[in-house]
Amino acid sequence: MKEGKTVDRVKIKKGNKEIEIVIRYPKKSDLTKIWKFYNKVIKETPFLARITPVSRKEEAKWFRETMEGMRKKNEIYIVAEHKEKIVGSATVTREGLQTHKHEGVYGICILQEYTGKGLGKRLSWHVLRIAKDSLNIEIVKLSVYKNNRVAQKLYKKLGFAYAGKIPRGIKRKGKYTDDIIMYKVLR
Ligand SMILES: CC(C)(COP(=O)(O)OP(=O)(O)OC[C@H]1O[C@@H](n2cnc3c(N)ncnc32)[C@H](O)[C@@H]1OP(=O)(O)O)[C@@H](O)C(=O)NCCC(=O)NCCS
Repeated sequence: MKEGKTVDRVKIKKGNKEIEIVIRYPKKSDLTKIWKFYNKVIKETPFLARITPVSRKEEAKWFRETMEGMRKKNEIYIVAEHKEKIVGSATVTREGLQTHKHEGVYGICILQEYTGKGLGKRLSWHVLRIAKDSLNIEIVKLSVYKNNRVAQKLYKKLGFAYAGKIPRGIKRKGKYTDDIIMYKVLR
């Protein structure tokens, strides 16, 4: 992992303008930008595992651990940036148990105003490719809210298969939703 290294440049349409998004590895100076991005996504979407805002201290700890995880090849985290603003991120984290180290957990989120433009697909394609080629991950898995149809459509397009569901596996503000489990074999 090279800090800040560009992975891809993507042109997308926003309004009637074409804009360029840079997909890249994070660097130390990104902390504030990533923190702002993540708290904005938490506010915008009801489909994340996090509900309450993340404090700067919490984010700094997470970021330090993520960078360390990447150095140790246990994790891959990439961001999508538009004009110095982080607008999306994707991650694959290796499972910790000895018998599950060939598996990774995948996650993605995009700022609402940048969704539906192909960014989720491109960011995912890269993170899964890197997980396979650099981290030697063989299987990726995810968990998604049953009513998050857009995300499930994306995952099916990416080749994820349905593994099953945990009825009432998600409890958000007192309301239950089934937790859908999906997986993809990378090699
Ligand atoms: C789910 C998410 C990552 C999808 O990213 P995205 O950039 O909007 O997705 P893309 O534009 O790459 O579209 C990928 C596919 O998703 C589906 N899709 C995207 N937007 C859609 C919409 N508004 N309605 C229906 N399907 C849609 C389409 O099948 C699309 O493929 P196609 O364009 O070839 O038809 C993004 O909407 C997001 O971050 N949402 C909030 C957080 C979240 O739900 N994260 C997942 C938690 S498990």
